[in-house]
Amino acid sequence: MGFGGEAAFRKCISPDCGAEFSCSETLVKCPKCGELLDVVYDWEKVGTPDRMSDFGRRWASRENRLDFSGVWRFRELLNFCPDEAKVTVGEGQTVLQQNDDLAEELGMNAGTLHLQYEGLNPSGSFKDNGMAAAFSHARMVGATASACASTGNTSASMALYAHACGLKCTVFIGSGRIAFGKLSQAMDFGAHTIQIAGDFDDCMRQVQDVCRELNIYLVNSLNPFRLEGQKTIMYRIIEQLGWRVPDWVIVPGGNLGNSSAFGKAFAELKALGLIDRAPRLAVINAAGARTLADLYNEHGLRWNGGRVDEAVIEAYYADLTARHFSPHTCASAIEISRPVNLKKCLRALDVCDGVVLAVPDEEILDAKALVGRYGLGCEPASAATIAGLRHLLANGTVDAEQTVACVLTGHQLKDPNVTVNYHKDNQGPYSNPPVEAPNDLGRIIELMQ
Ligand code: F0G
Repeated sequence: MGFGGEAAFRKCISPDCGAEFSCSETLVKCPKCGELLDVVYDWEKVGTPDRMSDFGRRWASRENRLDFSGVWRFRELLNFCPDEAKVTVGEGQTVLQQNDDLAEELGMNAGTLHLQYEGLNPSGSFKDNGMAAAFSHARMVGATASACASTGNTSASMALYAHACGLKCTVFIGSGRIAFGKLSQAMDFGAHTIQIAGDFDDCMRQVQDVCRELNIYLVNSLNPFRLEGQKTIMYRIIEQLGWRVPDWVIVPGGNLGNSSAFGKAFAELKALGLIDRAPRLAVINAAGARTLADLYNEHGLRWNGGRVDEAVIEAYYADLTARHFSPHTCASAIEISRPVNLKKCLRALDVCDGVVLAVPDEEILDAKALVGRYGLGCEPASAATIAGLRHLLANGTVDAEQTVACVLTGHQLKDPNVTVNYHKDNQGPYSNPPVEAPNDLGRIIELMQ
């Protein structure tokens, strides 16, 4: 059925509440119980294709701005707004690179390892998929100002889309917690940038209050429309595998929006009969920001049909507070200890028979150097996927012949400092520092032999 007979509506994820709301309201959390909200569809009303491959026809009509977008090409699977409201800046033109060199390095068979390079998006990260959807909703409800808390990429992407749609935008970032490439983008795109003396979790708390007080449109992944856009990353992986589902999808975990969106994508495709099985999902935390890994592996926290054990989460967070814990990792994008989408991610892990892992910074840096050497390059958080994959192969969770898609979430140039330091300071086995040479032809030629 659905809210008021609408084809798309919002629904509280708590099975004990399940309240429904129209998409024409500006809501982030359930006003009845405070839980997260989903965007839900009455699929009969929406009308979906019989086969995933039907979406491939749109490649032939790319002069249509919606068909050119890697998000809106799949619009029947996220049809919450009229076409006139749909925003695009050309997001989602990303590639799935089969990488046999890296596969060999990791001991996998040729043809198995694929890198989904989301760094090719206009702002250089996967966030553009979600922002295309969130800003379409913002336009649909007539918002005039937007805001987010960010470890960097969300702010860069928001600033780009806000500029494209004529909305004001304010970003909240933790002082000294953001890579320079990202900060430079937010400033360049004209965002009002507020650096808070605190970490991402502090910013996330503040921005929610600010948005409520000032009636500003929040574009963090708490906003369920963001996740609708991010579902399309999975559609594109399936598309580029010739409409086949991989055995594994591996994704870094920060605020847990992406992993949540991926789980929702697969649950919906399965329910629609567009795929016959979901892939397994591996979510990789950095060791210095390991809330999900701890709760899932050490405390046995599970989705449990939507009745997640709140007491376990509260006790974990109380301990973080008591220890004045602030997360620290070189992968600043995922330096988050209170992920807002935790419950939705547990649901995704349930749908996809998932696993969670935390990997140390040294392994992230080595993996990043390997992706740089053999692939398209990526920022540190993205390389957590390869570092995680190494462990999953070593302990036999992933087999060498299984098809694996690692989501490289952000562009190599987002965080040049980390890369330069790794190479110049010889931080690992893949360091490749520049060679000092005098301004002398003979000596230069000698050094090249
Ligand atoms: N990779 C990159 C490059 C990111 O920027 C982020 C999140 C993640 C992974 C984690 O994704 O939150 O969906 O689990 N960056 C956010 C930001 C938090 O503010 O840019 P997630």
